[in-house]
Amino acid sequence: MSRRHLLLGGAAAVGAAALPDTPLAAATVDAAGALGQSKEQCWGPHQAGVATRSQAFATYLGFAIRSGVARADLVRLMKIWTDDIERMTQGTAVLADPVPELADVPARLTVTVGVGPGLFRTPGLSHKEQPSWLRPLPPFSIDALQAHWSGGDLVVQIAADDPVAVSHARQVLVGDAKAFAEVTWTQTGFRRAAGTTAEGATGRNLMGFIDGTVNPTPGTDDFDQVVWINDGPSWLQGGTGMVLRRIRMNLDTWSGIDRASREQIMGRRLSDGSPLTGSLETDAPDLDATTDGGLLTIPEFAHVRVAHARNAAERIYRRPYNYDDGVTGGQPDTGLLFTAFAADIDRQFVPIQRRLDRHDLLNLWTTPIGSSVVAILPGFEPGDWLGRRLLT
Ligand code: HEM
Repeated sequence: MSRRHLLLGGAAAVGAAALPDTPLAAATVDAAGALGQSKEQCWGPHQAGVATRSQAFATYLGFAIRSGVARADLVRLMKIWTDDIERMTQGTAVLADPVPELADVPARLTVTVGVGPGLFRTPGLSHKEQPSWLRPLPPFSIDALQAHWSGGDLVVQIAADDPVAVSHARQVLVGDAKAFAEVTWTQTGFRRAAGTTAEGATGRNLMGFIDGTVNPTPGTDDFDQVVWINDGPSWLQGGTGMVLRRIRMNLDTWSGIDRASREQIMGRRLSDGSPLTGSLETDAPDLDATTDGGLLTIPEFAHVRVAHARNAAERIYRRPYNYDDGVTGGQPDTGLLFTAFAADIDRQFVPIQRRLDRHDLLNLWTTPIGSSVVAILPGFEPGDWLGRRLLT
């Protein structure tokens, strides 16, 4: 018997011995391919991919509309994309898909389409009312923005629990847009793979912190109020605003700091995400608590203190992804695709970012290098198409 055979045989024997009294739920699900066959609805008053439980993988695409493209061309594009989205999210190949087999595993695929301010330069669209916040964010002192990670006349978020599903959807959507728009940037992000942690567990960022704890809960009135737009231009009602910030982390210098200092910088513990003033991740930070020595337990410039909403209007829904593009120039090219949704970017997001710009200790290890603001179009029902109210 070969060594390999022996090892494999041994592993199988151990597995078999453990089987009878272990539920092994995740393994069973994987074996049946149920994760891959899970589908998210693409229809409804809101686009999927915002309130949707975060999938493991996401790709964001920025598009520039080609010169000569007019409103009628955008109508064609949106009708094609709507059809693509309806098919791919439900596990069906699109028309003339050169690799239809790749559509077989949707894995909760969602596609979420947003429009940037540049779209309104398209002939036939300049008269359309835009929300006042639909423009680049004001400059911040921490910014080192690079044009090739910023902006976008159209921005598309493609997310799924399987990276092949994401890649295939990207290939289809970009191919179908070719005559109308060219891709100016692509950003790829990830969270923990599906099934590796309990469903609904908050993810970790690459600094090691549990990230996304203090957030409105999808499906609640609170979430609806923070995220969905109910007034202003009728083409946007049911939509939302999205800010995407590519924030580079200097993990080399960050890993040089001791654990206690990192926790002071964040205001929360690395182990379980609990605030320095509590014991559970879900405990609300006590911003008034002091140490025996009379110092603030959550320091004055800790991220959670500075980011904490000062009033009910100033809230956002964060849906971040990590990115890791390897090592460039000897430095890890890693960070956060910080994605936030809010009905009014100026009122809800900008005040938080202004405070963080001035006071957040985390700024010493993080640098925003890309920034986009888009209006996420409302959803569509079967028979309808994405963006109809904007384009007709
Ligand atoms: C690389 C950059 C960033 C990292 C690593 C980071 C990480 C974190 C972590 C670990 C928490 C605590 C757990 C939680 O409640 O999720 C947190 C909280 C928070 N962050 Fe960030 N964050 C970053 C950038 C930002 C930015 C740009 C904003 C908004 C402009 C922001 C807004 C918030 C808010 C509102 C909270 C909740 C504060 C509270 O009320 O307790 N963060 N962040």
